Amino acid sequence: MRVVILGSGRGSNAEALCLAQQGGHLGRAEIVAIFADRPEAGILALGPRFGVDARYLDPAPFKTKLEGEGERRYIAAVAACAPDLIVLAGFMRVVKPGFLSAFAGKVINLHPSLLPSFPGLDGIGQAFRHGVKFTGCTVHYVTPEVDAGRIIDQEVVRIEESDTVDTLATKIHAAEHRLLVDVVGRLSLA
Ligand code: GAR
Repeated sequence: MRVVILGSGRGSNAEALCLAQQGGHLGRAEIVAIFADRPEAGILALGPRFGVDARYLDPAPFKTKLEGEGERRYIAAVAACAPDLIVLAGFMRVVKPGFLSAFAGKVINLHPSLLPSFPGLDGIGQAFRHGVKFTGCTVHYVTPEVDAGRIIDQEVVRIEESDTVDTLATKIHAAEHRLLVDVVGRLSLA
């Protein structure tokens, strides 16, 4: 199963996927490319480290969504990889119907809350400020409505009295790494 990863940030989830593949723990999944919408994104350093094609792809003209010229660039670059699965791992940009219909049923996203609670930006901070006792992370199929597609799996994280937003973030990131590796591995064997 050919996997393309899209990200914007430090890439700890993409790193977890690369490490799992390296260790033989990612089923039949093979990470074939990583694309980032920010040239300085840490996720791009995974390319040389793991021998994967990793490139900045200009998402212009929009700041928070992938549409128009930028969408066409992403569709062409991703399609050239002939992917079976596209993983949005911290890709902080709304993906529109043009991209989704080019890769129908193949795009999944990782979100740092138990959806449908706390969609959108800062899922960890939203849950912490709300005072819920359980939060976690979700992997779901991507649809045009943000953070609303069919849920594939979730991992629960308990918020302890002693937690700060930073300690909670650390726990959620650890849960995300486990969950994403598990889901991608399972999808590759399905
Ligand atoms: C992850 O926590 C992921 O859930 C979140 O961005 C982070 C990326 O971290 N995504 C969203 O909030 C999407 N709405 P990473 O770059 O270290 O993998």
